Amino acid sequence: MADPGPRSLLYEGILLPALVHSAESLRYAQLGFQVRDRDVFSVTYPKSGTTWMQELLTLIHSDGDPRLARSVPSWERVPWLEQTTAAGFLENRPCPRLISSHLPCGLFPTSFHGSDAKVIYTVRNPKDICVSLYYYSKMASFLEFQEDFGEFVELFSAGKVLFGSWFQHVKGWLGLRDRLNFLLLTYEEMHQDLRGSVERICRFLGKPLDVRALDGVVENASFQAMKQNKMCNYSLVPENIMDQRISPFLRKGGRGAVPLPGSRGRCGGAASYPSLASPSRGRCGGLPEPHHSLLPAGVPGDWKGHFTVVQSQAFDRLYREQMQDVGVRFPWDE
Ligand code: A3P
Repeated sequence: MADPGPRSLLYEGILLPALVHSAESLRYAQLGFQVRDRDVFSVTYPKSGTTWMQELLTLIHSDGDPRLARSVPSWERVPWLEQTTAAGFLENRPCPRLISSHLPCGLFPTSFHGSDAKVIYTVRNPKDICVSLYYYSKMASFLEFQEDFGEFVELFSAGKVLFGSWFQHVKGWLGLRDRLNFLLLTYEEMHQDLRGSVERICRFLGKPLDVRALDGVVENASFQAMKQNKMCNYSLVPENIMDQRISPFLRKGGRGAVPLPGSRGRCGGAASYPSLASPSRGRCGGLPEPHHSLLPAGVPGDWKGHFTVVQSQAFDRLYREQMQDVGVRFPWDE
């Protein structure tokens, strides 16, 4: 297993940022926290659309009214289970409690099992997660960062990044997919059909919304609306912790082609990349030549502007090997 860097904590073989987690907070989450039947958990591997789901759950519970979402930070509306701030804060929340977690299934509260609490598990194309995590690690001073993108892909593939292996995380949670209190969603389907995804969430939660409320949820949870909302775009976090001049927290939202001004070590946006026709071109900063170019805006697949053909093929091999027995087809599967 990876040696934890100076900013990390190793807990049960999983790397976590030490700034916001401790062995005590993780033990509390697993063993001390008492799940209630009306609790609703949004569970994600990092960079899978956690903040988006926090916004959606807030807006659904507010019947599409954006006032709460615009006046209270997302991390207070849908707080984290495993952070050092959780004990005390979560116990005093009114029901139904909306709670976020990145925990792998095996480290989830033992009191969840046997309860009627609900889990919404959101999955995203791991290659896009890898790119999103790369930029996040670059802008967040509390995370380890590997500038060379090829090496970062290797760390990600080996699960030597925060919250461990994407494969283990997803496979662990998919083990619950036949349970009535478990909803599996993908970032890609939310991107493709946000309204339909909100309707699915509402059915799962037993919280029907009328057309006006539904409009309010969809409008206020759009990428553009969230990017403007300082209660969820992380601009409230001091620059020495998250430097959004390096990379915005809400970066592209699955849109694959906008150059990022001021980001360290980047060749330029995918729109300015040459196509596959020049596979032997050198590196620029931390990024290799991209796999594809000119992605239409609004289509998930930012990885195509970052992975080389060789990196992509190696990842695909690992993916097939790891996911062969999973029995779920995701939007990015061929
Ligand atoms: P990118 O870095 O690819 O832009 P998390 O909240 O789990 O950390 O995930 C962050 C990712 O979700 C970022 O991806 C962010 O832009 C994206 N995201 C957040 N809100 C979104 C929205 N309303 N629509 C689309 N993507 C969104």
